Amino acid sequence: MTESALRAAPAAYDVQRVRRDFPILARKVNGRDLVYLDNAASSQRPKAVVDAVVESMTVSNANIHRAIHTLGYEATVGYEEAHKKVARFINARSWREVVFVRNATEALNLVAGAWGLANLRAGDEVVLTIMEHHSNIVPWQMLRARLGVTLKFIPVTPSGLLDLDAAARLITPRTRLVGAVHASNVLGAVNPVGALRDRARAVGAKFLLDGAQSLPHMPVDVRALDCDFFAASGHKMCGPTGIGFLYAKKELLEEMPPFLTGGDMIATVTPEGSTWNELPWKFEAGTAAIAEGIGLGAAVDYLSGLGMERVLAYEEELRGYVLEKLLAFPGLTLYGHRKGEHLAVFSFNVDGVHPHDGANLLDRLGVAVRSGHHCAQPLMAALGMDNTLRASFYLYNTKEEADHLLYALGEVSRLFVHGR
Ligand code: ALA
Repeated sequence: MTESALRAAPAAYDVQRVRRDFPILARKVNGRDLVYLDNAASSQRPKAVVDAVVESMTVSNANIHRAIHTLGYEATVGYEEAHKKVARFINARSWREVVFVRNATEALNLVAGAWGLANLRAGDEVVLTIMEHHSNIVPWQMLRARLGVTLKFIPVTPSGLLDLDAAARLITPRTRLVGAVHASNVLGAVNPVGALRDRARAVGAKFLLDGAQSLPHMPVDVRALDCDFFAASGHKMCGPTGIGFLYAKKELLEEMPPFLTGGDMIATVTPEGSTWNELPWKFEAGTAAIAEGIGLGAAVDYLSGLGMERVLAYEEELRGYVLEKLLAFPGLTLYGHRKGEHLAVFSFNVDGVHPHDGANLLDRLGVAVRSGHHCAQPLMAALGMDNTLRASFYLYNTKEEADHLLYALGEVSRLFVHGR
C-alpha cells in the first residue's frame, strides 16, 4: 500500500451504485438479504465480467493462435488484449511479462517448478514467512525433498506482524529467494514488503510476492515493488475462476525452462528436440482458458474504472467501522489489526462457539463467512489457534452489512453461549 494511495480522497465512491453492478448481491439466502463476507476466498463478479465471458463464448468462440479464420482471429486478439490489460493494471514493463495460469497456486508452482528447479541446489536457502498460504509453502517443500534446499520461515510477533528483526537474521548470503504474502488471507495484514525486498536484494536473492489478496484491494505497481515474481488469482478480483497470472521480469522468464510442455508453447518440434515459443506463450501450454482470460481482462477494466485508490480508501473506511464494533463485542477475540496496515479481513473467535457452528448459524441469517484454518495452518499454529471465523469485506460491502454481521454474531452468542 503506498502512502499516496492512502492519502487519495475517496472521490464520491457510490457503493450503492457499485452494488447494482453485481446481480448476485440482490439475492436472498435462507429468506434473508445476502451479506457476502467471504471475499478473501472468492469475490463476486460484476455483470460486465459475466457479459464478457458470455460474449466470448457466444460470439467469438474458437481456439487461439492456431486458426486463420475470423473466430480464431477474434479469440486470439481478445485473449492477448487481456494480457495487455493485466500488464497495464500492475504497471509491468511489457505484456509479455504476464503469464496466464489457473490461479495464484499455479503461478507459485510455476516459480518453484521452473525457476526453482533450474536454479536451486542442496544447501541453498528459500526464506518464506510463516504467514504464507499453503500454496506458497508446499511447492517449496517439494523442492526441499527433491533438491535438499533449506526452508526458513520468518515468524510473526504476538500482534501478528512480520518480525523484521528475525527476517534480517534469517536472510543470509545463502538465501536465493525470499517469498512473502503481500497481504495475509487470515489477518488482513499488509506486509512491509519493501523492507523484505531490500534485505533480499542485499544478499542477491530473488523476491517473490503472493499478491492473491492484495491485488483485489489496492493499487499494485510491480515496478515500484521491484519484485521478480508476483502471483494473483482472477476469482478474488471480480474475475472468473480458473484464471490467474504470474508476473515475472522478462529476463527471468527468458532464462527459465518451461513448466508445462506441449501444444502452443513451442516454436519448433523435431524428433530430436524442441525450441520454445516467445513469451508469454512459452509458459502457456495447451489450449488456454480463453473465455476466462477475457473475463479477467474485463475484471481489470472494471476495477480500473472504479479506481484502485478509491477502492482502497473506501475499504479502509469500512475496516475502521467494523474494527471498532468487533473490538467492543463481548467474548470476541480478534487476531491482528492492532498495529500496522491491514485490509478489511477479520479473523476472530467467539468464546464458547466453534467456528463451524458459528458460520452455520450466520449462514442461516444470510451472512456468508469462512470458518476453518484458511489454508494457513503454520500461521494458525504460530498464533495458537486451530480454526477461526473470518469475515472478509470487499468493494461492494456496506456499513449496514457490517451492522448485520454484528447483529448475527449477537444471535450466535445468545444461542451458543447463553443457550437462549
Ligand atoms: N485462499 C482462499 C482463502 O483464503 C481460498 O479463503
